[in-house]
Amino acid sequence: MADYKKETLLYEGKAKKVWSVAGNPDLVIQEFKNDATAFNGEKRGSWEAKGTTNNTVASALFRYLESKGIKTHFVEQLSPNEMLIKKLAIVPLEVIVRNRAAGSFVKRYAAKEGMIFKVPTFEFSYKRDDLGDPLINESHAIAMELATEAEIAQIRTAALRVNDLLREFFAERGITLVDFKLEFGKHKGEILLGDEISPDTCRFWDAKTGEKLDKDRFRFDLGGVEEAYAKMLEKVTA
Ligand code: TMP
Repeated sequence: MADYKKETLLYEGKAKKVWSVAGNPDLVIQEFKNDATAFNGEKRGSWEAKGTTNNTVASALFRYLESKGIKTHFVEQLSPNEMLIKKLAIVPLEVIVRNRAAGSFVKRYAAKEGMIFKVPTFEFSYKRDDLGDPLINESHAIAMELATEAEIAQIRTAALRVNDLLREFFAERGITLVDFKLEFGKHKGEILLGDEISPDTCRFWDAKTGEKLDKDRFRFDLGGVEEAYAKMLEKVTA
């Protein structure tokens, strides 16, 4: 394995830091922090194994998706809390796919939590913390030049394929994939799946008991946050 050294801190977000790599402008290292925030940073917390758990879960899921033909930014897991990735120009859209009603969908439409959708839903939020990541439709995203029509079509196809693959992956492990958020970016002109896929960015319910095994435990003070993340790590890496 080549030696990849962190050089300059390029960006620090709520849950990750991104570092340049000495001598390699095409790659960056994302370092997973133990910090958790919710509701656009209003609620804060942290726990010991959070960074390593999310990095290990995301690395395993990126490896799995790559093996199924999804193009991602993942290169390798460098350490428990560091991931080597291709440098992306992030498309400022949060791409959300839902299989069941939960979270903001329930709030917005007064839908019954857990309602099973015959067809998965697809939506975008505009990635802007200062605006609270508002819902944005496709024509607005194109008008704002956040992505082209062709890129949006490509992102939609990839996101729905990721949903099919992850739904099956988790179903085999006794977990219902309720919904999740993806981010995409461009690397050398190509759209790649980026960011992370973890209990921070997905809703996971135990298929038998319905127990929530994701960040909702932190968001809504349900208790057992660390245990839920540990359980998901075990499921994904078993
Ligand atoms: P929502 O129901 O709050 O819109 O969330 C949908 C999915 O997106 C859920 O799996 C949690 C994830 N998510 C993020 O990854 N980051 C965010 O900032 C938000 C609000 C949701």
